[in-house]
Amino acid sequence: MLVTGGAGFIGSNFVRYILKKYPDYQVINLDLLTYAGNLENLKDVEKNLNYKFVKGDIADKNLVNELVKDIDIIVNFAAESHVDRSILDSAAFIHTNVIGTHNLLEAAKNNGLKRFHHVSTDEVYGHLGPKNPPFNEKTPYAPRSPYSASKAAADHLVNAYFNTYNLPTTISNCSNNYGPYQFPEKLHGLFITNLLEGKKVPVYGDGMQIRDWLFVEDHCEAIDRIIHDGKTGETYCVGGDCEKSNIEITKKILELLEKGEEMIEYVKDRPGHDRRYAIDFSKIKRELGWQPRTSFDEGMKKTVEWYKANENWWREIKSGEYLKYYEKQYIKR
Ligand code: NAD
Ligand code: DAU
Repeated sequence: MLVTGGAGFIGSNFVRYILKKYPDYQVINLDLLTYAGNLENLKDVEKNLNYKFVKGDIADKNLVNELVKDIDIIVNFAAESHVDRSILDSAAFIHTNVIGTHNLLEAAKNNGLKRFHHVSTDEVYGHLGPKNPPFNEKTPYAPRSPYSASKAAADHLVNAYFNTYNLPTTISNCSNNYGPYQFPEKLHGLFITNLLEGKKVPVYGDGMQIRDWLFVEDHCEAIDRIIHDGKTGETYCVGGDCEKSNIEITKKILELLEKGEEMIEYVKDRPGHDRRYAIDFSKIKRELGWQPRTSFDEGMKKTVEWYKANENWWREIKSGEYLKYYEKQYIKR
């Protein structure tokens, strides 16, 4: 199995999940180690004989052509993933999310692959008003940020390679994840670590934007079901049945860390801020028997506890010190 972007948040949880569940699988993790990729995320599996790390770009033709030769399954997590960064500068988003995905598809086209699974997002569907029904697999694409537009482009390419070349593809469009190893620029990682540092938390606008939260291990399980039992050419929507406003998430984190509401700071809103996401995951539930296992309370508790217990991990990221590992890793490998 070739996992791309396996040194990031969801990818590293997925690599760990697969190595544990399928001890006879061999997993290659191809990751460029951008600011978001961190080999510390996989320290506990780096010596596993069935795991190999390759540093590289999914848009690198020669490298990817070489790697896919012996691969049965590709799971493509590699992406620029942060909406705020895409608003500041979207070039890297086009490079990785569009050109990189296209390069993987090209390499996969002629190698007799069993499955090309593309990990996508609910953001390709745009956003919802308070009374709109949740997104499902038939919702028309309407991305609104450079990030979601680049993910939408990649999804279209994946479907085109299924229709045109019979590449055995599947796509999952998932809602917001949270849990261990999430980079401390996203809502949970940033707010929990800010509070542990005694800093305030920056809530954008009125804080009433809604996301459908899913604990990361549940997302890993959904992808496992899709790559093993899902039908090629199909898209599966994955969600948490857990719509919460940002202010609800913020208050839950404050409660778990025993902090008061004076730690909230309302700041300028994100431009073009999507108001609400929600996912109807009845297809994957009906066809593959998947549904979220982790309740909101349980997932939030586990997440906060993980950040409390792994202070070195996030402090080295926030101080920029983690970049020193990159230099060492680059030379070593
Ligand atoms: P992340 O930013 O934490 O990790 C991305 C990883 O990709 C990093 O390790 C990075 O080094 C690597 N990468 C970036 N550019 C690369 C390139 N050109 N070649 C190889 N590797 C490269 O992201 P994440 O939150 O773990 O998201 C993973 C995937 O899941 C993304 O495709 C994202 O769109 C999708 N997704 C994320 C969420 C979420 O809530 N985080 C929800 C739904 C879907
Ligand atoms: O819906 C799936 C998507 O979820 C993924 O495709 C993206 O990769 C992932 O980054 C995430 O996008 P969001 O923009 O929803 O996540 P983020 O954690 O950046 O923000 C969640 C909400 O919290 C959003 O409404 C913005 C708000 N927010 C975020 C930050 C970082 C704040 O109010 N303050 C903040 O400082």
